[in-house]
Amino acid sequence: MDDGGSRLIFGCMGLGGGWGSGPLEAAHVKAAHDAVEAALDAGIRDFDHADIYAHGKAEEAFGRVLAERPGLRERIRLQTKCGIRLPSPERAGQYDSSREWILAQTEESLRRLGTGHVETLLIHRPDPLAHPGEIAEAFLELRDAGKVGRLGVSNMSAEQMRWLQSALPEQLAANQLEMSLHRTGWLESGVLVNHPEAAEVGFPHGTVEYCQTAGVELQAWGALAQGRYSGAAGTAETGPDAAAAALVGELAERKGCAPEAVVLGWLLRHPAGIRPVVGTSNPARIRASGDAERIAAGMDRHEWYSLWVAARGRALP
Ligand SMILES: NC(=O)c1ccc[n+]([C@@H]2O[C@H](COP(=O)([O-])OP(=O)(O)OC[C@H]3O[C@@H](n4cnc5c(N)ncnc54)[C@H](OP(=O)(O)O)[C@@H]3O)[C@@H](O)[C@H]2O)c1
Repeated sequence: MDDGGSRLIFGCMGLGGGWGSGPLEAAHVKAAHDAVEAALDAGIRDFDHADIYAHGKAEEAFGRVLAERPGLRERIRLQTKCGIRLPSPERAGQYDSSREWILAQTEESLRRLGTGHVETLLIHRPDPLAHPGEIAEAFLELRDAGKVGRLGVSNMSAEQMRWLQSALPEQLAANQLEMSLHRTGWLESGVLVNHPEAAEVGFPHGTVEYCQTAGVELQAWGALAQGRYSGAAGTAETGPDAAAAALVGELAERKGCAPEAVVLGWLLRHPAGIRPVVGTSNPARIRASGDAERIAAGMDRHEWYSLWVAARGRALP
């Protein structure tokens, strides 16, 4: 990174008190301060938001942190997303990548964050009613006004990216997908080509390769696999999850780090340059994640494959 920042991105979905409908409280702002402090200590300079996180309270809490820490905004990069309309009593949940919705939601995000611009805007999910030209128009309007630096997507296949790219004068910047030691469709789709088990893989084959070829940054959400390999309560005591958790623990002990660093290091070790989005709000777990790049640099092929095979629960084809 240009300022020495980590490849890790801090995921802000857990800030603002979560999805409950109550107002933002002082304790939520304090927790956001603590999480941001821990992320900075871990070398993280990129922060991932969405308009919907905690119904806007995640961005609001972060905005309070920015307002209360002069100089912080200049040290970090912000990313937000729009395109999901959460269900309400009157209306079922929908996706909306119309020009009007993108413009209105981005303005709302900027207001909540208390900033004039975000470095990156992602279209959160594919909207079947969207027109690529409309998305491009909204982005260019925001970019020309200095409100958004670059446009990316989330949860889109290579084909959907090509479709959107056809209307854009510049390269899509990023695709944020669920990728982890638990959600391994992004790997399975590659090694199961010409194999009957390929039909069971939900991940669109070729998306990782497309991003690599086109220079699109790959961001991994769910990168910690919700803690299933690093001690989260409720993790299975037998089976692939337990075996992978045991191996993660063994490697963490041998390498002198926390299990989070092994789980994230495994993603970083892949040559696609994946940037894990770390979703824990627990300051100790955030700081522990900061070791992931060191662990990735020292992870050999045997260790990397052993983790994958343990988590998938059966030998490779
Ligand atoms: N683009 C998308 O569609 C999309 C979807 C979902 C998320 N995201 C982004 O990606 C980020 C990460 O995603 P994520 O939150 O789903 O996945 P994650 O980072 O894999 O998991 C984070 C969750 O797991 C819990 N956890 C982790 N380690 C734990 C442990 N050892 N013990 C107990 N709990 C543990 C955390 O709780 P604690 O906070 O208590 O540690 C938190 O609730 C989000 O913040 C958001 O920015 C994007």
